Amino acid sequence: MTQMIGVGLVGYGYWGPNLARNFSQQPGCKLLCICEKSKDRAELAARTYPGAKVTHDYQELLGHAGIDLLLIATPVSAHFPLAKAALLAGKDVLVEKPLTRTVQEAEELIRICEENQRILMVDHTFLFTGAVQKIKEVIAKGELGEILYIDSVRINLGLFQPDVNVIYDLAPHDLSIMGYLLDKDPAMVQAMGARHASVAQEHMAYLHLEFDEGPIAHFHLSWLSPVKIRRTVIGGTEKMIVYDDLESSEKVKIYDKGIVVTAHDVDTIYKTRIDYRTGDMIAPKLIHREALNSEAEHILNCVRQRTTPISDGRAGLRVVRILEAAQRSMQSGGSPIKLEGR
Ligand SMILES: NC(=O)c1ccc[n+]([C@@H]2O[C@H](COP(=O)([O-])OP(=O)(O)OC[C@H]3O[C@@H](n4cnc5c(N)ncnc54)[C@H](O)[C@@H]3O)[C@@H](O)[C@H]2O)c1
Repeated sequence: MTQMIGVGLVGYGYWGPNLARNFSQQPGCKLLCICEKSKDRAELAARTYPGAKVTHDYQELLGHAGIDLLLIATPVSAHFPLAKAALLAGKDVLVEKPLTRTVQEAEELIRICEENQRILMVDHTFLFTGAVQKIKEVIAKGELGEILYIDSVRINLGLFQPDVNVIYDLAPHDLSIMGYLLDKDPAMVQAMGARHASVAQEHMAYLHLEFDEGPIAHFHLSWLSPVKIRRTVIGGTEKMIVYDDLESSEKVKIYDKGIVVTAHDVDTIYKTRIDYRTGDMIAPKLIHREALNSEAEHILNCVRQRTTPISDGRAGLRVVRILEAAQRSMQSGGSPIKLEGR
């Protein structure tokens, strides 16, 4: 018989309801308690989940013996204290992205998690999409050849976050996808950002990463674009992928295109001959399932079987390390920052 997992949720704002809905749809899982400090949001949570206790007191969740897994969907600045308290109270934890604001905080959570043999997962939602799963499969088969670059645009008229800038808000998606696909860390991070009028945080930014050997990556992030674009191009020596998350049916397109250098004279670039290879494009069939639904199933299995989630604390730390370096680069006008502790 499937072991019943009791779940508590803290934060019922924009994203929390998605967690509540997906976890309450899982077999062998019961949403027992929701903690929300805003009165209006708490009332909505109580109306939507009459079977769950709604409270503004986080201690109630920590002391609730039936809660095995705590979901944290508060603004980023609260992730660390809430997750730390939950792990110390013996709960397994799913934290929203990004795991924390600083590397030091992420490392502390990992240490507490390991010392107490808890499960710690970060909601890197995109890893659970059919599109990213398919891209991972294509790369693992070597179909793209050597990966040369990742180039991504993630812009729209977005929700301005009060406590973090656009890099901390949007880049975790791209960086978690990149970490999952490449399984290596960049050597150097550079970022430029801008904020206009009286907005406190940078709301547009350009993030540039270089690896010791291998691809370069560039991410354009903005909350101030009139149109929504979610497009990533991954270029390889053999094939290239265009992943457009807004496409309804053909989100992933694999192009059999590339260049072939047919003659190369080191003395003069004029003698370099580039031939273009233009083959077919295929749009592979993708699994259609809400990412959070797959993710909820994944962490519930990890909780039952005491196994490490795909996006564990270390995957979260990998992202936070780049975010922190990007912040330092942006504050120094875009200077390159070497990534420490890789
Ligand atoms: N995975 C994704 O695709 C995705 C998408 C959007 C947001 N997020 C993440 O979700 C988190 C929340 O973002 P949001 O847009 O829902 O923010 P939000 O401000 O809409 O909601 C946060 C809620 O948490 C409540 N809250 C804050 N501190 C609390 C506390 N100590 N106790 C109880 N309630 C508390 C607030 O009252 C608010 O209702 C962020 O970390 C964000 O990065 C993830």
